Amino acid sequence: MCSQKLISSDVFRPCNFPEHTYITRESKDGIDYEQRLKLALNISGTLISIIGASKMGKTVLCEKVIPLERQVNVSGADFSNGEDFWHVISQKVGLPLGGQITEKKQISDTEQHSKTEMFTLTKDRVIKYFVDNNKVLILDDFHYASDESQKSIASHLKDAIRRDFRAIIISLPHRADAPIRKNADLVGRLSLIDIETWKISELKEIAIKGFNELDIKISEDIANDIAVESLTSPQLMQYICLSICTLLDTDNGETKEITSDILEKAYKFTTSNLDYRDVLTLISRGPLSKGKKRSKFTTKSGEEMDLYQLVVESLAENPPLMGLTIDDIKDRVNKLITDTNNNPDRQKVKNTVTQIQKLINDKDDIYKVLEWKDEMIYIIDPLFLFYLRWGR
Ligand SMILES: Nc1ncnc2c1ncn2[C@@H]1O[C@H](COP(=O)(O)OP(=O)(O)O)[C@@H](O)[C@H]1O
Ligand SMILES: [Mg+2]
Repeated sequence: MCSQKLISSDVFRPCNFPEHTYITRESKDGIDYEQRLKLALNISGTLISIIGASKMGKTVLCEKVIPLERQVNVSGADFSNGEDFWHVISQKVGLPLGGQITEKKQISDTEQHSKTEMFTLTKDRVIKYFVDNNKVLILDDFHYASDESQKSIASHLKDAIRRDFRAIIISLPHRADAPIRKNADLVGRLSLIDIETWKISELKEIAIKGFNELDIKISEDIANDIAVESLTSPQLMQYICLSICTLLDTDNGETKEITSDILEKAYKFTTSNLDYRDVLTLISRGPLSKGKKRSKFTTKSGEEMDLYQLVVESLAENPPLMGLTIDDIKDRVNKLITDTNNNPDRQKVKNTVTQIQKLINDKDDIYKVLEWKDEMIYIIDPLFLFYLRWGR
């Protein structure tokens, strides 16, 4: 029987589990992430907390390690309005609610009493169901749960894990770690897994493995180029590789090798589904200036730009960096403008960055693409920087 030829969309999967391009990475302590998660799942009585930046492979890691039939997936968004924890989970696994069994007993009870009873019954049944069936609760995007819910979920879980209930909480760094990681009741009962951002050498492997599966050659140098542009994001790497395949029509054509002439086109093509125009407008316009006109600078490309526009331009410059100091930005700004006697000083650059941060802070999550802290400006959304570099 001849094996079926793989097509590019099976191999490069930016939005799903990448069966053919899955890369195993080492965590900081030298153990694979998969191994760490397996070990953690083996210790009963602990709660597993996975933290990592967006799109770094937290969900994919769980999918890799835990067989589908053991997974029970819920999202923090299911608890955005204070929904009852056990109620949501029992519904998820299709268990009858406690209330449906206690109905007869409740007739003479006060309402409060019956509520508590219903809750305990639901909880007990859910825990028993999980233990008997060897299920693992994966509570993804915990940061979407309301603050109240996060606290309440933490206390429900504290009790449940003692009874062998297996649970994994997945969240973004800084955001939702307090109710879990800084919870005194949970100290000593946590297994912590921090997913680091991807190194270039790790990102490269996605391209090499994937094109190899498609029987297409790719040099180390080209894989390296794509990895640099992927800005620490395995998802971006998968997207760019898929764009290359689409542009070259590799599924139907006779492509034998990836050459560098396709790269720029593929980067630009990859941005066609990214829409950061509103974010870009917000930060390059800056706050409303009251009457006073902002100084303009002439750039080498002949445009007149104020400092807000220049700071944004500086982020997009080479080499792509996910973290820059004020001096980095100042140097880049200076290189962009023609009149070197009129360079904006360090303090002005710093004020501009601070103002940009203020504008972002007041906005929805989609705008939170940058973070100014510890005297550094960090790009927290790699797709945004990619858009700045190739999407305009
Ligand atoms: N270990 C991996 N190997 C290859 N690609 C990966 C890996 N982890 C993540 N990816 C790619 O990144 C995408 C986003 O991963 P995901 O797990 O959804 O991120 P997160 O849950 O951290 O936001 C995946 O759909 C996949 O394309
Ligand atoms: Mg996820």
